[in-house]
Amino acid sequence: MARHLITSALPYINGVKHLGNLIGSQLPADLFARYMRARGHEVLFLCATDEHGTPAEIAAAKAGQSVQDYCAEMHEVQSKLADGFRLSFDHYGRSSSPQNHKLTQHFAGVLAERGLITEVEENMMYSPVDGRYLPDRYIEGTCPNCGYHDARGDQCDDCGKLLDPVDLIDPRSTISGSTELEMRATKHLFLRQSAMKDKLDAWIDSKSDWPVLTTSIAKKWLHDGDGLQDRGITRDLDWGVAVQKGDDAWPGMEGKVFYVWFDAPIEYIACSQEWVEAGKGNDWERWWRTDKGADDVTYTQFMGKDNVPFHTLSFPSTILGSEEPWKLVDYIKSFNYLNYDGGQFSTSRGRGVFMNQALDILPADYWRWWLLSHAPESSDSEFTWENFQGSVNKDLADVLGNFASRVTKFCRSKFSEAVPEGGVQGERETQLIADLTAGLKEYEGHMEAIEVRKAAAALRALWVLGNEYLQEVAPWSTFKTDPEQAAMQIRLALNMIRLYAIISAPFIPDASADLLKSMRSEDDTWPTDIAAALATMPEGHAFDVPDVTFRKITDAEREEWQEQFAGQS
Ligand code: MF3
Ligand code: ZN
Repeated sequence: MARHLITSALPYINGVKHLGNLIGSQLPADLFARYMRARGHEVLFLCATDEHGTPAEIAAAKAGQSVQDYCAEMHEVQSKLADGFRLSFDHYGRSSSPQNHKLTQHFAGVLAERGLITEVEENMMYSPVDGRYLPDRYIEGTCPNCGYHDARGDQCDDCGKLLDPVDLIDPRSTISGSTELEMRATKHLFLRQSAMKDKLDAWIDSKSDWPVLTTSIAKKWLHDGDGLQDRGITRDLDWGVAVQKGDDAWPGMEGKVFYVWFDAPIEYIACSQEWVEAGKGNDWERWWRTDKGADDVTYTQFMGKDNVPFHTLSFPSTILGSEEPWKLVDYIKSFNYLNYDGGQFSTSRGRGVFMNQALDILPADYWRWWLLSHAPESSDSEFTWENFQGSVNKDLADVLGNFASRVTKFCRSKFSEAVPEGGVQGERETQLIADLTAGLKEYEGHMEAIEVRKAAAALRALWVLGNEYLQEVAPWSTFKTDPEQAAMQIRLALNMIRLYAIISAPFIPDASADLLKSMRSEDDTWPTDIAAALATMPEGHAFDVPDVTFRKITDAEREEWQEQFAGQS
């Protein structure tokens, strides 16, 4: 038994996430966590809401709420949606937790002691009308790169370029709209990432098994242009972690907070302390401190590609720079983007399907299956309603659902609602068992390698083997001449339903649980010997005919939904 620490990128607190966000980190992380648990490993799977920064403040102001109330409410909303999608986090924390405040201040203090934090006098945008500095998204203007009018201070939404508020052309305050802005000198802290460059470079080089998407982004940031830049890690905001050196004040930094990207990844660790505090675990250090047993832990992170620089360079700078025995990530699985029906998902235009809407129209498993089987791994992928309808109707309804329904209904009508007796397996069954054994091995290999799409294809192929077998041996015909032979075929097929329920659970946990329940089986042990697994439910074992496992999506629904989620242009 191995120990697996698994984290998903922390979703921003502001607003419900869309399906592209979901498949970019949380859902594949859940797939992996479920698989590792199913294989008997010890898993700690953590996620949290990322609550600091200007987006949270701005969203709260828009909602007419205090940022504290807004975050508390949105955390509940996101937490319920995570449950709705069956994301099996061991704890869903909050980056605004006291634990994260303390740990963030601790890291800052240690990094300062190691000489890795510098105080830099900077000219920042100040708005006399608003009476405050305007960091990041508090400022908008024209993008110097592409000319887009509503580029934000930290990034242009049109061309994607990362910006500094002072770069914007015709900048304006997003609070008051004021354009009378001035530059004022103020002190900020910078993390000396440049001093960590060689260490980071060597570390990335040692990760030859990482996805190319991950290492290529990291390498680009390390070597392009002027190479790795020092990063400003403080902001003039009220909401966030107060700038302190551990428990001590930081002279000159009064009224400032740490930048959200400094404290957010630290929440991965703080979240495990929240997990202990919530009474769900009793020792976080054995997951995170290499001097307390975490050397045995395999730590895997999941994220979208835009998050990669922060997880390959910034956060590791914090960890390595501290020279304390913290567990570093072992494997970073990153994803490209999921597009929506010929364009992008857009929160502002309500374009695409958001997590709450998805669950309003169909159960989680339908979405989980489509998203995971179309995960944007080697390139961006696209959600279309035709494709979604096709996958659900074929893979889930025709292949898996139909298999379960045909076998159980046939058994009930010709034998009884119990595994039938008689007959002996022959060559065709030996072949089936060999095929299932090989197919399962392939599936396991892809799951272990976190090749999500390939794993989905391998799982589907296993479902197909059952259908092909049934089609070929045709128990409904066999029954007329040799009922004992048909009994043997159906006995095997009933056991295959149970087998499918177990191995499909990481992808479609609800349907799997229902199928297992219909088979009245409590034993969900992962199969290691297919022949034995297919003999688990003995002759006479009672079962129930399951309700419809997956229904089909009609053309009318497809058209209605396509219309409904198109958004305003
Ligand atoms: N909130 C960020 C995003 O959605 C991800 C933060 S990951 C963390 O892009 F580790 F830094 F928290
Ligand atoms: Zn731009």
